[in-house]
Amino acid sequence: MTTKMAINAKDIFRNQHRLIRFIEQSIRLCSNQSLKTAQQQQQKASTPDFEITASVNTQYTHAPEPIKHDKDLGHMFKASQMAVRLATPQQLQPKPDNDEELGFGKLFTDHMLKIYYHKSLGGWQKPEITPLENLVMHPAAKVLHYAVELFEGMKAYRGVDGKIRIFRPDMNMNRMNLAAQRSGLPTFEGKEFVQCLSRLLSIDSEWVPHTEAASLYIRPTLIGIDPTLGVASSDSALLYSILSPVGSYFKTGSNGAVSLLADPSYTRAWPGGVGNRKMGSNYAPTINVQKEAAARGLQQVLWLYGEDHQLTEVGTMNIFMFYVNDQGEQELITPPLNGLILPGITRDSILAMTRQWGKFKVREATFTMPMVSELLNQGRLLELFGTGTACVVSPINRINYLGQDLYIPTMEQEKPVHELIRETLTDIQYGKVDHPWSVVID
Ligand SMILES: Cc1ncc(COP(=O)(O)O)c(C=O)c1O
Repeated sequence: MTTKMAINAKDIFRNQHRLIRFIEQSIRLCSNQSLKTAQQQQQKASTPDFEITASVNTQYTHAPEPIKHDKDLGHMFKASQMAVRLATPQQLQPKPDNDEELGFGKLFTDHMLKIYYHKSLGGWQKPEITPLENLVMHPAAKVLHYAVELFEGMKAYRGVDGKIRIFRPDMNMNRMNLAAQRSGLPTFEGKEFVQCLSRLLSIDSEWVPHTEAASLYIRPTLIGIDPTLGVASSDSALLYSILSPVGSYFKTGSNGAVSLLADPSYTRAWPGGVGNRKMGSNYAPTINVQKEAAARGLQQVLWLYGEDHQLTEVGTMNIFMFYVNDQGEQELITPPLNGLILPGITRDSILAMTRQWGKFKVREATFTMPMVSELLNQGRLLELFGTGTACVVSPINRINYLGQDLYIPTMEQEKPVHELIRETLTDIQYGKVDHPWSVVID
């Protein structure tokens, strides 16, 4: 081998990681027709019924509770201190062939973000991005015994312009910190964490699907890892995030409406509890009830509360009802944030957006199953739907309540409000409309 050939071989060997990524990206881009379709759709100049522009009122419906950091929290982490250890070419996973068939949370990207907190070492440690790997912890770690854990659900969307966007991340950070406070876990600077997430997203950017039928789910998680059995604040914690490409809730051609089990003998949240915080401990007790719904041929659980059977949430979504009120006006209502309701980011966005439209009344108000039955009997209930990051909007067509099936005409409306809401929100998320709620990742 000549010296020149040896140098070239050395260069190729040194850069093989980049080369493999380049080849992978090229194959993926070539094989994916969806981007083209999305661009064609964007060009179809359709006039929306309601125009949402950057001038929309982007205030919170309820100003979030301010985060008060503990005096003895110690030092905070900074995104600028990030250490990055990239996956080796052998560790890189193949990306899915068909973004439309992804399902939810089954595949994960090549890297993860980790930030440890150790009070004994002065507070938050430097953030690090590493290949996706198993976590090692002491069997006494608090998360394993007392569910000292909280999480978030966010998404990165590849816009029609190819840019990657996340949606109102400041709200996820606020909700996370409130849950940390309630769990005796250390709080942190949300802005710095969003910057760390952005770095992770740019490293794994090719995992953000090139289609509007899918997105990259972001799962920030905070756990207490103190190796001690006391039910007490965590002096050691791990804040981490993994990423998972996920499909759409709505397959093309299907109306996507869900049927619900409304059984008043189960409740998800109660006054003074933590139904308004996204903690893992809220979710395990719902699994068996969900199984019961499935066994009865129903897709989700409608969570009721109280003697009057108030509707609180549906599955892991907030609930909205569109109906004709006593004054004969069309009105959109959702239960108020009374401690039983998770302050959904989709919920808040829908309230702000529909109030701005001014096309119908919008109100936060409690509503009950007897009220739903009566409105149905009088032909005044128009639509019922769940809302959340996973699905944006999930229309409801049937509720099994006290052994009776109530048929909801959500899918029978000529111009359904839930469709308009979904379109407007996804237009913002996929960058068809420029909007301050959508934050572009550099
Ligand atoms: C119980 C519950 N309600 C509502 C929501 C919807 O919240 P968001 O719109 O922020 O996704 C979620 C999902 O996070 C949830 O788990």
